[in-house]
Amino acid sequence: MSLTAAGLSFAYPGGQLLIDGLDLAVPEGSSAAIMAPSGIGKSTLLAVLGGLRHPSTGFVRIAADDINQGVMRPSNRPAVAWVFQSMHLLLGRSALDNVALAGMPRGIVRAEAERLARIELSRFGVDALADRAVRSLSGGQRQRVALARAAVADPLAVLADEPTANLDRTNALAVADVLVNQFSRASVVVATHDTGVARLASVTYVLRDGQLHTVEP
Ligand SMILES: Nc1ncnc2c1ncn2[C@@H]1O[C@H](COP(=O)(O)OP(=O)(O)O)[C@@H](O)[C@H]1O
Ligand SMILES: [Mg+2]
Repeated sequence: MSLTAAGLSFAYPGGQLLIDGLDLAVPEGSSAAIMAPSGIGKSTLLAVLGGLRHPSTGFVRIAADDINQGVMRPSNRPAVAWVFQSMHLLLGRSALDNVALAGMPRGIVRAEAERLARIELSRFGVDALADRAVRSLSGGQRQRVALARAAVADPLAVLADEPTANLDRTNALAVADVLVNQFSRASVVVATHDTGVARLASVTYVLRDGQLHTVEP
């Protein structure tokens, strides 16, 4: 399975073409970093890839399904999990609660969701913090909790928008490392302006003139 975009174009009403005939393929278990300075259209591209904005031309497929056609998938895995610079965690709830809640849309019962949550918190190196309120965690710890939450959702694709922008150097690289290495069943796309983060991905692209240009490692 993979995330595939072909011939994508997009402009905001009255704006210039930010995406102009763009192609992208991210196989399951691999990752693509998308680099560009601020304002070029990274967040817009992620929004189009995740079906939050409709392209004016082209299509996005996740597994066999066109993201904009709402085709029913045979499995209960969601098409997309989002990871943001600001993690959108419930600050007053425990790390465990935040992660376990991601099991609800999949219809997983509470005890099983908590079991999965503990496994994912452990995989992202924050199992010791399971019972702490997210409010009391550092930025790097919070982003690991957010990644564990995405993992419990078990999505076909993970779309991460500047997920390390609020972190110090060490945490940025550590979080990026788990992001690109711990989602073996998903296609991971990460928008970043950090070259160190981008280098960790399977493939690095620069978004320029509305298209993706491969950066040689
Ligand atoms: N909702 C919107 N309506 C109109 N223009 C927008 C909207 N969102 C972003 N833009 C514009 O689109 C361009 C690309 O924005 P964005 O995708 O956020 O870039 P990046 O994530 O690379 O910083 C910017 O010029 C921005 O002002
Ligand atoms: Mg952005």
